[in-house]
Amino acid sequence: MIGKHLLSSADLDREDIETILTTAASMHDVQRREVKKLPTLRGRTVINLFFEDSTRTRSSFEIAGKWMSADTINISAKGSSTSKGESLRDTVKTIAAMSVDALVIRHNASGACRQVSQWVDASVINAGDGTHEHPTQALLDAYTLRHRLGDLTGKHVVIVGDLAHSRVFRSNVITLATLGARVTVVAPPTLMPSGIGAWSARDGFATSWDLDEILYAGDPPDAVMMLRVQKERMSGGFFPTAREYTVGYGLTSERLERLYAVNPQIPILHPGPMNRGLEIAAEAADAGSSAILDQVSAGVAVRMAVLYHLLAGDQGAQS
Ligand code: NCD
Repeated sequence: MIGKHLLSSADLDREDIETILTTAASMHDVQRREVKKLPTLRGRTVINLFFEDSTRTRSSFEIAGKWMSADTINISAKGSSTSKGESLRDTVKTIAAMSVDALVIRHNASGACRQVSQWVDASVINAGDGTHEHPTQALLDAYTLRHRLGDLTGKHVVIVGDLAHSRVFRSNVITLATLGARVTVVAPPTLMPSGIGAWSARDGFATSWDLDEILYAGDPPDAVMMLRVQKERMSGGFFPTAREYTVGYGLTSERLERLYAVNPQIPILHPGPMNRGLEIAAEAADAGSSAILDQVSAGVAVRMAVLYHLLAGDQGAQS
């Protein structure tokens, strides 16, 4: 059952994900219309409260709300009273006192969204909390992968990059496991989260330090997802030089060519923003099989679906 909040990918079982992805597909059709407006959330108020920078996530939640006729308002930390020293609790309680229906929150503290959900009556949607989770990203990735690969049961998805700082990876391993995909995550030892052994056993994914072995030896990937090197979350040197990172863990044009020799249709994903030339070469980002802009487009449809199920539920009209 889809609940009141969406805080973690673990909140969603397989049926919930199927429901959201099916609704997202009909929302995607709306996206292709000339007049993109549904009355579904008329009279509802959705606040995007972003304490961290964002291009895709914030604008797609805003567009999603607007296309369903909700009143959507953006508040960013820089322009809010948090920059005057107000606490998170006071900020969200102040906003909630204006009778809002949903708060979409991005915050640099892991667990912030769950905490907020205990302070307010509104539905809370996690749009990225620290290095913890980003459940709508995992849903839009699943939507994109399903569109390219069909049923994900048994499909091999390889996720590569700065796992230590990635909430996208944390949500993705949960959602992909729920959908029956096989996942291998690859990172240099310094960017592998501590304690990943117990966790990979729980969620059933494999880990590796050797990208070439995972890409070319034995079990070919059905899709490759590259993750950004999150320099803003790094306090020290996690790898010797950018060049060495690229040689070991970048999706370079040479690696892409070897992948294409086996499977020229292989979807290449990246949640963005990309460091072109570091974790992904321009040739890979812009390759014929790149799914990166499909992910962005799916982001609006999936966020429409999430807002719909959280706020309108069975009473909402989808036409
Ligand atoms: C990601 C995020 O903010 O977690 N981006 C996104 O939502 N599209 C990944 C990142 O910042 O690298």
